Amino acid sequence: MNVFDAIRKRRSIRKYKETGVEQEKLNTVLEAARLAPSATNKQPWDFIVVTDPQVKERLRSSYDEEWFIEAPVIIVACAVPEKAWRRMDGEEYWKVDVAIALQNLVLTATELGLGTCWIAAFNEEAAKKALRIPEDVRVVAMTPLGYPDEEKGLVTGRKPLNSIVHYNQW
Ligand SMILES: Cc1cc2nc3c(=O)[nH]c(=O)nc-3n(C[C@H](O)[C@H](O)[C@H](O)COP(=O)(O)O)c2cc1C
Repeated sequence: MNVFDAIRKRRSIRKYKETGVEQEKLNTVLEAARLAPSATNKQPWDFIVVTDPQVKERLRSSYDEEWFIEAPVIIVACAVPEKAWRRMDGEEYWKVDVAIALQNLVLTATELGLGTCWIAAFNEEAAKKALRIPEDVRVVAMTPLGYPDEEKGLVTGRKPLNSIVHYNQW
């Protein structure tokens, strides 16, 4: 599968099989995240891989959805803002860096037949408490990871190109 195929095939999966994720596949998706670009190559990220049912149950306090808790793996993508590049005007880029890394992971998961779902509607304080995340670390997003138990077609429902692309000026 090439990158464009994976982009078209990736969908938000909200139903997972119980089958676990092979360690080799887990390593591959994490390696895809590791190889992501980041501003001035600061790599201001850490990833927590949650597989322990008790820890997943603790995470419920941050995002209480059965399909999320029951996925075999949950990846929690974190940023360390003080390690990240910041523009001269103070604009911070740690969310961008971590998002790129997580999307690398998500697209690689698609290639390997695994489902994911970007999650941002969580309670960050609850997630930090559940996973013992230090004060100065931010949780950017999470995704369940596992074999899909629902069929979804190719990506649909996007705005047409001619409504979002501007040549030479807005
Ligand atoms: C940054 C971000 C945050 C999201 N947060 C959630 C979420 O908290 N819960 C959820 O069920 N889906 C979440 N989604 C999934 C979107 O709803 C989904 O990507 C969008 O509707 C398009 O559907 P598709 O992913 O199947 O193409 C999020 C997606 C992104 C990119």
